[in-house]
Amino acid sequence: MNNKNYKLAIVGATGLVGRTALKVLEEKNLPISEYVFFASSRSKGKELTFQGKKYIVRELTEDSFKEGFDFAIFSAGSETAKKYAPIAASCGCIVVDNSSAFRMDKDVPLVVPEVNPEEILNNHGIIANPNCSTIQAVLPLKALDVKYDIKRIVYSTYQAVSGAGMKGILDLENGAKGEAMQKFPHPIYNNCLPHIDVFLDNGYTKEEEKMINETRKILKKPDLKITATCVRVPVINSHSESINLEFSKPFTVQEVKETLQNYPNIILLDDVQNNVYPLATIASGHDEVYVGRIRRDESIENGLNLWVVADNVRKGAASNAIQIVEELIKSKTK
Ligand code: A2P
Repeated sequence: MNNKNYKLAIVGATGLVGRTALKVLEEKNLPISEYVFFASSRSKGKELTFQGKKYIVRELTEDSFKEGFDFAIFSAGSETAKKYAPIAASCGCIVVDNSSAFRMDKDVPLVVPEVNPEEILNNHGIIANPNCSTIQAVLPLKALDVKYDIKRIVYSTYQAVSGAGMKGILDLENGAKGEAMQKFPHPIYNNCLPHIDVFLDNGYTKEEEKMINETRKILKKPDLKITATCVRVPVINSHSESINLEFSKPFTVQEVKETLQNYPNIILLDDVQNNVYPLATIASGHDEVYVGRIRRDESIENGLNLWVVADNVRKGAASNAIQIVEELIKSKTK
C-alpha cells in the first residue's frame, strides 16, 4: 500500500460536465492532493470554487502537462482531446477522455467500471469514457448478457437537453419563453427531435452509430445485431431509454428482475400497480442506473423490454470518468 497523494487535471472545467465533475469530486474523498483546472483562452483567469477554496482557471496549452500530472479528465470536446490528450499521455499522465475522439481506437479501452473494469489496465495513457446513452444501457445489458446471451438490441432513446451542454439547456428554457434557439435545428420546447449529432450517409445519426459501435465494443460482441433511434426530448436532465432485447436463452421475468437488482449500481424500480418506474426526475443527481417496466416482448421468442433511466451528466459522463480514476488509484495502491 502506498500513501501517495495524486495530482489531477480537469480539462474543460468550466463546462457542464467539468463543473459536475468538480461537484462529484467534492462528494468523494479521493487521495488527490493537487487539482489544476484548465479551459480555453476564453476562461483564462476565471475563478472556480472547489472544496471551499478558490482556484484560477488556466488556459490549456501544449506545455500544460510538463509540470507532471498523474491523471487528467478531459471534457472539452473531440478536437481538444485529439490535440492535447496525446501530449498529456506523452508526459506520463493517464487521460480519461469524455469525447468520442478515441472511443473506437483499438488501443484505447472504452470503460464502464461496473461492466469491463479489466480493460482499464490495458491503457496506453488514454482511456475513453463512452457516450452517455451507451453507459447507462450497458449495465443492465451486461447483467443479462452473461445469463441469457443477447442476440439483438433495439434502442429508442429519449435524451435530455443537458446532453448538448449549457446551450442545450438554454434552448429549452428560452424556447419556453418564446425566444429563438441557438443549439438545435428546431425548437426543442414542445417538440421531440429525432436528430442527435450529425446525419451519416446511411440515414442514421452519429449518436445512433455511437450507441451501436460502443455497445459492441464494451460487451465484446463485435457482430451483435443492434439498431437505434435517438431522440432529443424537452427534459432538462437524465436520459430515458426503451431497450428491446432478444436472447438466445429462455428466461423468466422474475429471474431477470433478481439479476438486475443484484447488479452493482442498478436500482430496480418496477411496481407498476403503484405507478413506480424510473423517471428522469428520480435519476437526476444520482450515479445509479434505474431500470423498470420489465416485461416480456410477446412478439418474439425470448424477447424482453426494459426502461432505463440515468443522469447523463453524472453517470453518463462526469461520475463514470471519476470512477475510472478511482479504479486507477486502487490499482496503483495495491
Ligand atoms: P471555455 O469555457 O473556456 O469555452 P460545454 O460542453 O459545456 O460547452 O463545455 C466545454 C468545455 O470545454 C468548456 O470548459 C470549454 O472551455 C472547454 N474547451 C473548449 N475548447 C477548448 C480548448 N481549445 N482548450 C481547452 N478547453 C476548451
